Amino acid sequence: MATLINKQFKLAARPVGLPKRSDWTYEENPVASPGAGELLVQVKYISLDPAMRGWMNAGKSYIEAVEIGAVMRAGTLGEVIASNHPDFAVGDFVSGAQGVQTYAISDGKGLFKVDPKLAPLPKYLNALGMPGMTGYFGLLDVGQPKAGETVLVSAASGAVGQVVGQIARIKGCRVIGIAGGAEKCAYAVQELGYDACIDYKKGPLFDGLAEHCPKGVDVFFDNVGGDILDAVLTRIRMKARIVICGAISQYNATEAIQGPKNYLSLLVNRARMEGIVVFDWAPRYGEAVTAIAQWMAAGKLKSKEDIVEGIETFPETLLKLFSGENFGKLILKV
Ligand SMILES: NC(=O)c1ccc[n+]([C@@H]2O[C@H](COP(=O)([O-])OP(=O)(O)OC[C@H]3O[C@@H](n4cnc5c(N)ncnc54)[C@H](OP(=O)(O)O)[C@@H]3O)[C@@H](O)[C@H]2O)c1
Repeated sequence: MATLINKQFKLAARPVGLPKRSDWTYEENPVASPGAGELLVQVKYISLDPAMRGWMNAGKSYIEAVEIGAVMRAGTLGEVIASNHPDFAVGDFVSGAQGVQTYAISDGKGLFKVDPKLAPLPKYLNALGMPGMTGYFGLLDVGQPKAGETVLVSAASGAVGQVVGQIARIKGCRVIGIAGGAEKCAYAVQELGYDACIDYKKGPLFDGLAEHCPKGVDVFFDNVGGDILDAVLTRIRMKARIVICGAISQYNATEAIQGPKNYLSLLVNRARMEGIVVFDWAPRYGEAVTAIAQWMAAGKLKSKEDIVEGIETFPETLLKLFSGENFGKLILKV
């Protein structure tokens, strides 16, 4: 077999503000052969996630920072092309976190087989993968929506948001989205079944909230933080639940992160605000995959991917998440 070349992005510097290409080094290295008990995976798709920005920072978080010089961490989907591992055969497709590279050797830990006959591979990085798990457990376990309640979702057309909105609709809630731009808002209403979607780039968010959530918000699933969280805090109902899934508006802040100024609304309304980390539900992922796959098969839940070709584009493609240029789950096709 001709020597395979591994294209890799390794972390070179801890970014200040938005990451730039020079925060990584791009390398091409020969691929080694898997040793005893190991397998070699050819990476086909790389998941680009807002969390990757946080993993580049030093300091304490829910997961250790990526070391300088290490391959940039990322969720992946790939095909086994050589195996000395009893549980994995050549031709198996696996999801895992093999990083921004085209080949990876593994001892099998953290790899899960997926079936490309059941769903197209990118779906396993989207509704049937980490974003789907986040939306499912974050909404149902922490948000605890009840039929008839008003559920509000920020970044409503994104990877996590699209799952949250559709599950809330399936559960009989009134579902309102917040998204950037007319195209995303139209998609949220017409394709995902949101009752309405507020374009926060068009006019004051307060006006949209007053119009579409006249009685207030029972569950707010927040992906954005900052001004959007602050505005929503002024419109929560008694015993509201605010799910802090993410705060993408703050991830590239070069000054202190903007906290919620209106948090006393939690006191007034006896409301609850709770952060989530999807990995906590890992033992129950099977439950969510089964439910989401059934909804997809029944035509009740859709998922949209935004697939960009070429691992070489990684640094610039990642930035689409922070400009809102991605439309659906952002994935790099290797
Ligand atoms: N806690 C967990 O375990 C967990 C797991 C997965 C993801 N997350 C979080 O969930 C959130 C969504 O992730 P995703 O993968 O689904 O991404 P996504 O929604 O597919 O893409 C990010 C979107 O965020 C919006 N956005 C970016 N910058 C913004 C800003 N300054 N103000 C307002 N909106 C902005 C843009 O949508 P618009 O064009 O609509 O503004 C953009 O398309 C992120 O905060 C992520 O960190 C958390």
